[in-house]
Amino acid sequence: MIDERLAHLYSQETLTAQPSVIREICSLVARPEVRSLAGGWPDPAVFPSREIGRIFAELLEHKAGPVLQYGSTEGLLELRELLAQRLALEGAKGLGPENVLLTHGSAQGMQLAAQVFINKGDTAAVGLPTYVGGPGSFHSRGAEMVGVPVDGDGLDMGRLEETGRRLKKEGRPIKALYLVPNFQNPTGSTLTLDRRQRLVQLAQELDFIIIEDDPYREIRFEGAYLPSLLALDKAGRVIHLGSTSKILTPGLRLGWAVGEAGIIGRMAQAKQYFDCATNTPAQYIFLEFLKRGLLAPRIKANIDHYRNKRDWMLAQLQRHFPPQVTWNRPLGGFFIFVHLPAAWNAMDLFYEAVASDVAFITGQSFFVDGSGANTLRLSFSQASKEDIEAAVAELGRLIRARLEKG
Ligand SMILES: Cc1ncc(COP(=O)(O)O)c(C=O)c1O
Repeated sequence: MIDERLAHLYSQETLTAQPSVIREICSLVARPEVRSLAGGWPDPAVFPSREIGRIFAELLEHKAGPVLQYGSTEGLLELRELLAQRLALEGAKGLGPENVLLTHGSAQGMQLAAQVFINKGDTAAVGLPTYVGGPGSFHSRGAEMVGVPVDGDGLDMGRLEETGRRLKKEGRPIKALYLVPNFQNPTGSTLTLDRRQRLVQLAQELDFIIIEDDPYREIRFEGAYLPSLLALDKAGRVIHLGSTSKILTPGLRLGWAVGEAGIIGRMAQAKQYFDCATNTPAQYIFLEFLKRGLLAPRIKANIDHYRNKRDWMLAQLQRHFPPQVTWNRPLGGFFIFVHLPAAWNAMDLFYEAVASDVAFITGQSFFVDGSGANTLRLSFSQASKEDIEAAVAELGRLIRARLEKG
């Protein structure tokens, strides 16, 4: 609520910002009796609490000074070197610490990228649908948003090209594009190799920057890892965002932005004014995870854990949902996206579900053009198997009842 007496003092971006429907839904349904498939948070059951506790205790004993001190804005040199080496193994060659900036989650990477590139009124492209953090960062800079459809193979390159060429002719070219290439939030879709190759070409042809938000990359259940846009791009147009949130714990708030040294330098400069530097203990803890070889087994455990839950949710959907409803089979990540019959509004189902102590996220909040009313996002990451089973069964019952009503 904004106090009317002070309204004229707020920025335009604040006055026009949409509240996060996801957060509102999550707080609305934060009752212990609710079986929630709404929040897309990682499962605390796989948080490496014991290892983090042990490492932190050792760090405090042996180097409390630097661990509890301010750090450089760019972040720990050794950690940036190791991250550059990891990315080289994934195909992004020729990177050094000057290409890496430690951030508070990939969320801050989006914010800094928008800060560095977006002026008020610039055009920024996002998927229809897409995770809300990208559009939120663009909005905070006063960008005009344009949506590009996403299908089972990720962002539609034909539509991006068509939209990009049209906007260029109209004198409002796309300046930046935000996307989640792997196991996208909310659709679970993964951008195919062909489309990745086409996207980096298009960025060059149409002259825009790509913000590649990739926090789910490591949570792949099956199939070969695909090269990142950062690895495919030869023109320095990609800002790649990574994070410990889905592979260790989001509470560390640790992420990294990687790209052409000039861009990363400017993002570091912008970060100086936001928060000076990234949480030092989190960086040291993550560094130790890498140096002691503890990350790989954690990632493997996470993959097994979430694959098991995905399979369970898919089996429940198969069992309880009628054929008039469709959904995808994600190859990784946390989400399954559901399409209800075209004329339906998922909000109606949501209210009925909440009355039955079941929750999900309506899909419309992920579409910047307000479409997608008949979609919903189910998350299998945090709910127990028992809750997944009961919630999907109840949703299936409510959907069938609606179908019968006609
Ligand atoms: C696609 C996507 N990007 C970024 C984030 C936030 O990540 P971080 O915790 O690294 O800021 C999320 C969180 O759910 C997400 O789904």
